[in-house]
Amino acid sequence: MRLPVEHQQPHWPDPDELADVVRTLGGLPALVPPGECDGLRLRLAAVARGEAFLLQGGDCAELFAGPLIEPTREKLRCLADMAAVLASESGLPSLTVGRLAGQYAKPRSMGTETRGDRVLPAYRGDAVNDLRFDAEARTPNPRRLLAAYRAAHSVLNDIRRLRTRNHALFTDLGGDFFTSHEALLLPYETGLTRVDPASGRTYGLSGHLLWIGERTRQLDGPHVAFAASVSNPVAVKIGPTTTRADIAELIELIDPHREPGRLTFITRLGAKAVHDLLPPLVDEVITQGSPATWVCDPMHGNTFTAADGTKTRRFEAIWAEVHGFIEVHRALGTHPGGLHLELTSRDVTECMDDRAPVHERDLHLRYETACDPRLNGGQAMELARLVAPLLRPSARSVELLQDDAMLG
Ligand code: PEP
Ligand code: CO
Repeated sequence: MRLPVEHQQPHWPDPDELADVVRTLGGLPALVPPGECDGLRLRLAAVARGEAFLLQGGDCAELFAGPLIEPTREKLRCLADMAAVLASESGLPSLTVGRLAGQYAKPRSMGTETRGDRVLPAYRGDAVNDLRFDAEARTPNPRRLLAAYRAAHSVLNDIRRLRTRNHALFTDLGGDFFTSHEALLLPYETGLTRVDPASGRTYGLSGHLLWIGERTRQLDGPHVAFAASVSNPVAVKIGPTTTRADIAELIELIDPHREPGRLTFITRLGAKAVHDLLPPLVDEVITQGSPATWVCDPMHGNTFTAADGTKTRRFEAIWAEVHGFIEVHRALGTHPGGLHLELTSRDVTECMDDRAPVHERDLHLRYETACDPRLNGGQAMELARLVAPLLRPSARSVELLQDDAMLG
């Protein structure tokens, strides 16, 4: 077995079969129309101007099927409830984007997983292999890219059905709903890239918003090149090692024309580091004259392993990073544009929470995620309730006073 795999691409055992799959994808209808990607870009531009707030959320890893899968309607209802609270308490309209209809691929820090004396390839998402811990299930299978297309197609159909039948749901969602996922598997993404005959522009039509993950944002890497080559709104995840020079170069590569709504930075710096690390990055965006949208992912910088080996996050740390993110933006006069969350409406016990309560000893009770720990429905609503008042115009000056010192 060849490990670690470069640029987080799986080691597909049969390159001819992979090429065949990419050709098949190229002949299938696009999953989303380019006009909807443009529509989302305009909505994200409004977020960057401080006229709306983005709520982006869903599973860490979506599954194709099985008892753990949450119906699309329930996923949207959870986001809608949060969006409604955020909008009514803050006075800012909500823009909602799901981590769904394509979130089937995961980067991994370890190429293998060990259980007892058995070592197998790590689970890389349903588009690559199966969560089941056996050698055949864990072998990357390119046919799964076609299954990912079918699964995404079916989720998009659910969304279309809900849009025509459930006006109340879409009102709460902010009038519309868009899809997003990490553009990790380049054969899948390039297989679904199309030139729009109307505009002559190229779009990645696997979803509306595509993001580049923290592990694949190398300036000279293939993922950033892919993001630069499509006209979708794109986001880049920004972790604690990000430098000002990285920010400047990402802007130059992905958004050289400084097009509003085109580029979003999703910061995932950790609750403890956000006050120190975020201000210079925001300052660099200002220096570059970039209209980039700022979004906080308070999940991925706050992950740790509990004593029994379970991967978890503390609600308090998640809230603290969001709070810090808003404070920094208030102090710098930029708009804390939105949240990027891993969540489910289900009553899971994946993130620890002293008040809910989900203690360390409770984690095993309903730990259902295929990858990272998600907020459960109650925790997600609680976060929305905590965040909303900080977005009110009246909250701005207060925060500014409190945090003058932080910029020193
Ligand atoms: C994710 O969003 O699930 C993820 C892996 O994030 P990041 O790239 O920020 O680590
Ligand atoms: Co995750």
